[in-house]
Amino acid sequence: MTNQLTRHKQEIRKQNVFYPNRISADLILGSANFPSNHAWSKSSIIPKVGVLFVVICFLLYVLWGTLDVTIADCTECNFSDETVHARLNESYLVCNEVPADHRVFVHDRALRDYQALPMIYFVTPTYPRREQIPELIRLAYTLLHVPRIHWILANDLKACNAYIDGLLKRFDLETKVRFAHHSFILGLPFTHLASPMPEFYRRKKPMPRGVANRRAAIQWLRQRNITNGILYFGDDDNTYDLKLFSEIRDTQRVSMFPVGLIEEYSVSGPVVRKGKVVGFLDSWVAERRWPVDMAGFATNLAYMAEYPNASMPYKPGYEEDLFLRSIRLNLNIIEPKANNCTEILVWHTQTKNRERTTLRISNKYLDDRSNLGTLIKSLDVMGIANSSDNEGRRAVISKNGKAKPLSYFLS
Ligand SMILES: *[C@@H]1O[C@H](CO)[C@@H](O)[C@H](O)[C@H]1NC(C)=O
Ligand SMILES: *[C@@H]1O[C@H](CO)[C@@H](O)[C@H](O)[C@H]1NC(C)=O
Ligand SMILES: *[C@@H]1O[C@H](CO)[C@@H](O)[C@H](O)[C@H]1NC(C)=O
Ligand SMILES: *[C@@H]1O[C@H](CO)[C@@H](O)[C@H](O)[C@H]1NC(C)=O
Ligand SMILES: *[C@@H]1O[C@H](CO)[C@@H](O)[C@H](O)[C@H]1NC(C)=O
Ligand SMILES: *[C@@H]1O[C@H](CO)[C@@H](O)[C@H](O)[C@H]1NC(C)=O
Repeated sequence: MTNQLTRHKQEIRKQNVFYPNRISADLILGSANFPSNHAWSKSSIIPKVGVLFVVICFLLYVLWGTLDVTIADCTECNFSDETVHARLNESYLVCNEVPADHRVFVHDRALRDYQALPMIYFVTPTYPRREQIPELIRLAYTLLHVPRIHWILANDLKACNAYIDGLLKRFDLETKVRFAHHSFILGLPFTHLASPMPEFYRRKKPMPRGVANRRAAIQWLRQRNITNGILYFGDDDNTYDLKLFSEIRDTQRVSMFPVGLIEEYSVSGPVVRKGKVVGFLDSWVAERRWPVDMAGFATNLAYMAEYPNASMPYKPGYEEDLFLRSIRLNLNIIEPKANNCTEILVWHTQTKNRERTTLRISNKYLDDRSNLGTLIKSLDVMGIANSSDNEGRRAVISKNGKAKPLSYFLS
């Protein structure tokens, strides 16, 4: 029993090294429901007391595991220099690169009014999944309101995704003439990279998601000698307040600010005293020197250029920490933003992920007799859903509250 418990605990802690809060929260929720659903009759009180004892032990043990993790257990915290500066050597494809800003107005001002502002390089790692396209559309519409921005979208795929390329072009000049009536959405400068995670890491658990993409983006900046401007890692599933961009734009070296909806505390960010960062509020410490979220800091590229070995190693949970270590960050130079870190200008919203759907619908009806053929084909292209004659979830079509066969409508 003790051995089993110990082993179980070790397993949990091992997992907790990366996802402490989610797992322990699940366990606590699961076990809390347990006793409350049972009515306790007098006749069987003795065995029930035994069960209660076990449940309490289990709760205590889960709680202990959680506490233990917060005061950290990190077998690799003395990262070697080679780990911290893992050489950027992955290959990636440049699918498309449009550096020119073709917007005429941003907010209520002409584009030229913003020319003196430093450029923000907004690096978004993204990966194929059902939610990918809607996330990117939402983010694109946010970025269109931001002057002097270059969106580096790095997709976790070996080849260039033509649909995403088309989407990005929609936000650029090429289609301006064709979509003249939509001109308000056009003109965002972007670079589209295909930067797949090396196979070796794809087999790991947890997977170091987004690292290959960010590493490719850093390489892209290096290879173009871009040492002017601001680097910001903005995931595709966050919510960004437009004020964030004006705040980070004057980052001298490294700026930091709180991120909302992070894990157990619902927030992660610096503790600021007298205008200086003195510590960090984050529910997962794990000996991280810089326990911050990826969206919780920005770096000036001129400062970063002083550290040619700057890198982001493949260490799930430690990406931010190791990146900031690789540019030799120290507390004294951190610039607190968002009104001395009292405001939340970026949220780790996250979209609920689900498997792609297969709709069971006879292929013979997916022609131009109705919209369904084109609609379902476009869902397929976006990686959201496909159709099959004989598998998946049956697609029910109805009229007046009654299911009808498609032949009813199409014959
Ligand atoms: C990490 O480094 C510190 C100081 O250099 C040392 O005291 C500690 O034992 C090291 N920990 C491990 C796990 O190597
Ligand atoms: C990149 O470097 C790592 C070691 O730093 C090495 O293991 C890996 O094989 C290299 N990959 C390529 C594509 O050169
Ligand atoms: C970047 O700078 C290096 C060294 O100064 C130079 O060799 C290289 O040609 C430059 N690359 C570009 C794209 O300007
Ligand atoms: C932050 O706090 C410092 C010290 O109290 C103060 O001087 C500074 O004006 C504050 N900054 C903002 C943006 O409020
Ligand atoms: C960068 O790494 C190389 C090779 O590991 C090393 O020789 C050099 O000193 C490092 N540079 C800096 C600035 O740390
Ligand atoms: C539909 O997608 C599923 C995976 O989501 C795949 O297994 C299946 O082969 C696809 N079916 C067709 C007809 O493309």
